Amino acid sequence: MQCSRNRKFLSIERELQDRKFEVEPLNDVVIRPPCVTDGASVNALIAGCPPLDRNSLYCNLLQCTHFSATSALAEQEGKVIGFASGYRLPDESETLFAWQVAVDRIARGQALGKHLFLDILSRPVCASVSVLKTTVTQSNSASQAMFDKIAAVLDAPLQRTLLFDRDRHLGGSHSSEFLISIGPFQIPGRDQSDRRK
Ligand SMILES: CC(C)(COP(=O)(O)OP(=O)(O)OC[C@H]1O[C@@H](n2cnc3c(N)ncnc32)[C@H](O)[C@@H]1OP(=O)(O)O)[C@@H](O)C(=O)NCCC(=O)NCCS
Repeated sequence: MQCSRNRKFLSIERELQDRKFEVEPLNDVVIRPPCVTDGASVNALIAGCPPLDRNSLYCNLLQCTHFSATSALAEQEGKVIGFASGYRLPDESETLFAWQVAVDRIARGQALGKHLFLDILSRPVCASVSVLKTTVTQSNSASQAMFDKIAAVLDAPLQRTLLFDRDRHLGGSHSSEFLISIGPFQIPGRDQSDRRK
């Protein structure tokens, strides 16, 4: 399978820049949908990005294939430095659920995580998406800051509610996961050609 490598700067970024939001392009970084040959690199990236749960390689291969259209990979000089996986909720097609996001330590602090999600949201497969959801633990301040910035650039409200409780759902072994819901939002200039009901 051939990876598509031509998605450097996206229409959404131009549109958002036109609206004077702070979406700066990153030098020499290519953002594209992942493909099957990325599975092992993604697995290694996630393993090096605590507190993310480590995935099986099989899980990452599914993300890079079945969920490729709603996932994004960032590479710089051929090295994978960022990855975001997501999917549209089966019973809520206007919602993109952000499954995992990881940015290599060397690339943090440049809003790459935000760029990955803006890339996904700019795609035709997300033409009818108006809400972004994810879960974050209370102690993950970097992730919370990143989603705050995504809400700001989308000019959308952000709500936090408890979703998976440490004792009731996570066996007491994992911090509670709080649902973050951003929306409703509209993406200016988004390609509507693949809009699904
Ligand atoms: C969360 C994560 C994806 C953010 O990616 P990013 O592209 O660095 O995001 P941003 O540049 O917007 O920075 C977000 C916050 O990270 C922190 N940060 C900034 N520079 C940093 C650096 N060099 N190293 C570590 N954290 C840094 C800051 O708190 C920043 O918020 P601020 O800009 O309001 O100060 C990344 O930190 C990461 O991969 N963390 C480990 C995996 C993880 O926690 N994933 C999310 C699970 S819900």
